[in-house]
Amino acid sequence: MSVIVQAENVSVDYGRKNPVHAVRNVSLTIEENQFVGLVGESGCGKSTLGFALARLERPPAQIISGTIQIVGQDWRTLAAEPLRRARWTEVSVVLQSGMNALNPIMTIGAQFKDVMEQHTRMSPAEIVARAETMLEMVQIQPEVLGRYPHELSGGMKQRIAIALALVLQPKLVIMDEPTTALDMVVQRQIVENLKELRRQQAFSMLFISHDLGLVLELADQVVVMYAGEVVERQSATSMLDHPWHPYTRALMHSLPDPENPKGSYEGIPGTPPDLHHIPTACLYAPRCPLATDVCRAQTPPLEDLKVVDLRCFVTREEVGVHVGTGA
Ligand SMILES: Nc1ncnc2c1ncn2[C@@H]1O[C@H](COP(=O)(O)OP(=O)(O)OP(=O)(O)O)[C@@H](O)[C@H]1O
Ligand SMILES: [Mg+2]
Repeated sequence: MSVIVQAENVSVDYGRKNPVHAVRNVSLTIEENQFVGLVGESGCGKSTLGFALARLERPPAQIISGTIQIVGQDWRTLAAEPLRRARWTEVSVVLQSGMNALNPIMTIGAQFKDVMEQHTRMSPAEIVARAETMLEMVQIQPEVLGRYPHELSGGMKQRIAIALALVLQPKLVIMDEPTTALDMVVQRQIVENLKELRRQQAFSMLFISHDLGLVLELADQVVVMYAGEVVERQSATSMLDHPWHPYTRALMHSLPDPENPKGSYEGIPGTPPDLHHIPTACLYAPRCPLATDVCRAQTPPLEDLKVVDLRCFVTREEVGVHVGTGA
């Protein structure tokens, strides 16, 4: 199984003077055809990390440390031109519906043509055929190629953005809240589209969402972030049975607030810490029902406990009992 993304100890700050340490020492591996879900409350650094991996970070965001290897290339130091060539062909990005880069003054067909002309030598007939195939995969009629974005619903535009992201068969697609801001019926349609696309075309995905239920349904592996750090990582199937971090458990037992679809949760009391000053402690301790004095005085490391990568002084003991090592 080849590795598509290998990020090591990536840290991202906003600003230089009194910076916000939005992402700290995150390591992430995504294998060929693997779907990795990245989940956490609003402000925990999901988009910051996703943008940094795609090298779409914009000032004041700055990658201050770490390495990013994508399909064997060093993306942290890649020059602008090879980076441009790699977009759409190696890595593409789908943003929250409505924030997507569908050009309002170009027909859908012209946008497919634009991407394919810039990156391939396909003939006009081949371009149309490929665009139609992609639209078919997301259950959109070929007539739509002649339409402008404003003539289409939000859900259709988002499905088109997904089709466009996959048209050049990139190795990796990063989707940041692709279904947030869409109603439940349309969200469901997109989830089914993604499952179907996966059956038809090989690609890896980083799926970013504040909705753990959705992530557990779509992803092979789930990475839970809290306050800029990874606190838990394990396969979706094992997380469903055994969420270990108290924060993951809280996410599982609370529902995303429908009144605030951008990522707040009902039922987890308290708020994440200020990311200007990172205290020496478990950052979740002030909100954690299991917190001890140790949690309030020391920073728990992210430990590889075989069945899970976990950052918790308390539940690491439970994992030890669970795997029978007593660790
Ligand atoms: N331009 C900016 N300047 C300063 N701080 C920023 C900026 N953009 C984001 N941040 C801070 O970085 C942290 C991470 O934000 P980020 O947008 O990555 O979170 P997120 O997990 O994607 O949240 P959401 O679910 O709301 O999309 C937050 O504390 C946020 O306030
Ligand atoms: Mg975000």
